[in-house]
Amino acid sequence: MPSDTAGSWTPVALSADLPAATVIPAWTPAGSIALWRSQSGRVSASSDRCPHRGMRLSHGFVRGEALSCIYHGWSYSPAGGCIRIPAHPDLEPPETIRVAVHKVEEAGGVIWVAAGEAAAHPPHFDDLVPVRSLTVESDIGALEDAAGTKIDPLGLVRIADLPWVRLLSTEQVDCTLVHVMSEKGRSSPSDRTAASRIAETVRRRAEARQREVA
Ligand code: FES
Repeated sequence: MPSDTAGSWTPVALSADLPAATVIPAWTPAGSIALWRSQSGRVSASSDRCPHRGMRLSHGFVRGEALSCIYHGWSYSPAGGCIRIPAHPDLEPPETIRVAVHKVEEAGGVIWVAAGEAAAHPPHFDDLVPVRSLTVESDIGALEDAAGTKIDPLGLVRIADLPWVRLLSTEQVDCTLVHVMSEKGRSSPSDRTAASRIAETVRRRAEARQREVA
């Protein structure tokens, strides 16, 4: 993934898959996160562990501009501070109660989260549009074999059989997260269907390849 020497950016999700007032689980090399979009549209990435009793915050819910834990309802701001404890409505939560947060940027329909102290901005693919995301049960090597090309320094794998389709790929602990992208001039509904189908084909090939080498 593109990075400076101190950190890197991970393409964790497509913007279209995170509507306002929702939270989803996501993954970066720094660990699991709760990725959420406030009612006003702001995207935040919080550590996926509530400081109260450890419930996953990605199981929680978004109200207004805050993320709330599903267990006892503690609420956190985009900056990570606890702003409300329902069992003690008159208490102003101490500043020490907070969740870790990560830097987030949206570019070209992709949501990027920084792992570490990434100083630069994530890449913006001016010539590509996102189609969909999928998870491949293989490593990057098997995905490259299946696509017939090598991953480039920005994390894009071109599909040899349909060269206007790219797979923006991030290897995770036991799978690879892929965001299917197509060239801007190839984004009609039929092109998107074709891109999606070839990505499924590559997924099947990669998973078969992975089973062979396992
Ligand atoms: S575990 Fe999250 S509020 Fe209690």
